[in-house]
Parts: sequence; structure tokens; C-alpha cells
Amino acid sequence: MLSVDNATAAEADRRRFERIVGDTAYRPRSPDAIRTELERQVGFQSEPVDHGLGELATLLASWLAGGHDLGAVAELADAYPAQPLVQFYALAMRREAGDVEAARRSSSALLALDPDDPLAVQLAADLDGDTVLAASDETRLSNLAKLADTPLLRNPYQLAVGAIFETIRDLEVARVLDIGVGSGAQLAELLALLGEHENRLRRLELVGLDFVDEFLERAGQRVADTRIPIETEVVYVPVRGRIEDLDDRQAREIAGESGLDGANATIALHEVPGEQKLAALRNLCLIAPRHVLIAEWNYCLENTLSEKSVEFLLGARHAAADFVAALTERYSFEEARQVVRDWLAQHGGQLTCPAGHRQECFLHVTSWQALLEESGFDLAPCDESWLAHAEHGDRASLEDDAMWIATSVYSGWSPIALVHAVPR
Ligand SMILES: C[S@@+](CC[C@H](N)C(=O)[O-])C[C@H]1O[C@@H](n2cnc3c(N)ncnc32)[C@H](O)[C@@H]1O
Repeated sequence: MLSVDNATAAEADRRRFERIVGDTAYRPRSPDAIRTELERQVGFQSEPVDHGLGELATLLASWLAGGHDLGAVAELADAYPAQPLVQFYALAMRREAGDVEAARRSSSALLALDPDDPLAVQLAADLDGDTVLAASDETRLSNLAKLADTPLLRNPYQLAVGAIFETIRDLEVARVLDIGVGSGAQLAELLALLGEHENRLRRLELVGLDFVDEFLERAGQRVADTRIPIETEVVYVPVRGRIEDLDDRQAREIAGESGLDGANATIALHEVPGEQKLAALRNLCLIAPRHVLIAEWNYCLENTLSEKSVEFLLGARHAAADFVAALTERYSFEEARQVVRDWLAQHGGQLTCPAGHRQECFLHVTSWQALLEESGFDLAPCDESWLAHAEHGDRASLEDDAMWIATSVYSGWSPIALVHAVPR
């Protein structure tokens, strides 16, 4: 049980987190910006239909500005009965306004147009009081592997690891932390780079942090199985724990005797609940790695946004559209949407469970940057040399004076952003 002091500190963190995210998240508000979002989302439909988008963008802009006109929603739904996006957002607006009967009508209209739309299926189940069954961990991992086969994940993996490699390649001894080491994919990539590029490393200590024993073991096995012709002595140090809850012993185990030269968190920190993200980053700052590289989903799906809000569904559909855009370059449209369906089904339905219970908390890159600064880090520029590590370099770019990397751009948006920070 939390002591009173801890509970007060946790509450203060939660408020600070909400304020920072509220101040920094990118929220499209103008009809033009919303239309751009909607155009990205058209590709998510089984049969892309683009009429009515301008009118829908105008209505959404007015709704998001506080003008909740259900009459205008009904008129738009009647004017564009065959536009799935109109039916989807009519459902979103009616749901937010609490008009369950009208939301059901939109839900039926949407499912009649596109019966396999994963967002529609989950929202319909919720309206009917049905439970959403989460996919198994095995399925989750195999879906991650599918995404890892596309530039959407491949590029950020390579860029994060490439950046770590560039910062340690001239050292003789280096110690690197992988937060949320998972199956050890990034550690294996780092070892591969040692075999491919010149470096001075004689000893490399790889610290894997995860709270799942099986992952720590798997990552260790992966390191052991990675046979590359290198002179470097490689040592693997598994540490079991959660980054937001580290105690002194774990922190010492991670830092070792001579401290950390680098740390990467690749697609891991979104799993730390929103209100604990500041604690996680503060702990990371206390361990004091010389460089920190964070590669994270770049969407507005915070667990501070109500699951009933139109804003939340706008972000969820944007993410879903990007997943499908990436996956359909390799897999069928049906398989791509199945991945989205499984992702949404986590934790009994990410679109429908109470916001505070949502398993994942995605944040825009600007929010990650502000949270890092709040936790004792300075943001640092990304080096142009890192870009050469991406297999699909045409999709990656330095942004905002090199303060972050757009790792894999789809229709003008980078689903994952890479940020570089150093303890202040
Ligand atoms: C989506 S997987 C990514 C794994 C790996 N970095 C990759 O990209 O393949 C997220 C990993 O982070 C771990 N994780 C989640 N929350 C964590 C926390 N609070 N502290 C440490 N590890 C965490 C999970 O157990 C999982 O292994």
C-alpha cells in the first residue's frame, strides 16, 4: 500500500504529467489540419471513398471547439450515407454526447458499409455490452514481428541502435542499457553493427532491463546465439524490474562500476502508465547514461484522454491507418486489419476500457521531449550520421533542427519518433 507521502507525490506527478501533455500534444483543430488527418485515414477503409471529407472536417473542427451540434451530425450522416468516415465520426460524436440510440444507428450504418472495420467492431461490441477478448501474448508477439518486417518498425530499430553504436564505437569499454529488452532484438542488432563497422570496442556490457523473466532469458539466449566474427568481449547482464520502480540495488546493478555509456528504450516506454512516466524518466536520469535514445509511438493516445472522446478516436484511427499503410506493403489488407484488431483488443478493448486502465499510453514527440526536460534531461541533437543506419533511408529525416528523427514517414507522418537526451 502507498504511504501518504508516496500517494501525494504520485498524485503530484499525475497532475504534472497531465499538464505537460495538455500543453504539448499536437491536436489538429482547424478544418484544414483535420482534413489532412482524414485523408490519411481513408486508406484504412476496405474501399476508399473520399467524398464528404471537407464537410466532415468542418463539423469535427466545430465539435472539437466545443460546438456539440447533434442536429448537424444527423444532417451530415444523412448527406453522406456511404462515407464510412462520416459514419465513424458520427458514431464518435454521438457516443461522446451520450446519445446511445443514435450511436447505435451510426454503428450499424458503419458496419453495413465495412463489416470488418476493427474500430467499428469494437465500438459495436461495447454498445451491445459484449466483452472484447484480448489476443494471446503469442499473437501479440507475432503481430509485432509482422510490423518489424516493415519500415515502420525496422527503421526505428536500426536508427536507435545505430545511434547507440555511433556514440560508443570509439570507446574501448562500453556499458549499454536496453530498457524493455523484450526478445533482445536491439541487442542482436547492436552486435551485428560491431561486426560490420570499424570500432575500438574491446569489451561491451549489455544490460537488459525487463520485468518479464522469460524476456530476460530470451534476450540472453539471443546474445549468446549471435555469432559474429568480432574480437570484442560481450557480457550480458539481465536486470529484472520496472524502470519506474527501481530500487538502489537495481540501479547499482544497471550502472555497474563505471556507469552507463548509453541507454535505449525502443517501443517500450509507452507501456509505462502515463502517471508513472515522469518517475520512469527520473529514474533513468538518476542512473545517468551518457546518452539516452528513446524511440516511441508518435500519437495522441494518452490515458488522460477519455475513451469516449472524439479526440481519442481521431488519434486511434490515425494510428490504425498508419499500421495498415505499413503492413499492406507486405501483407494482405485483411491480415493488416487483423493486426489492428488484436492491438485494439488488448486489455479488454483499448477503445472502450476506462482511460486509466488503458494498457498503452502513446504520446506525441513534443510531449516526450517536455517530459524528458521535466525529469532532469537536456534534449540533444541527433547526428546526421545516424540516418545512414536505416535500411529505408528515404523514409527517415532529421526534424526541428535535428532535435528528433522522423524514423519512417507514411503520408507525411512518422508513426515513431526518435529522441536523443543527456542528463543535465
Ligand atoms: C513492445 S515490447 C518491445 C521490446 C523490444 N524493445 C522490441 O522493440 O522488440 C515492450 C517491452 O518492454 C517491457 N516493459 C514494459 N513496461 C516496462 C517497464 N515499466 N519497465 C521495464 N520494461 C518494461 C515489456 O515487458 C516488453 O518486453
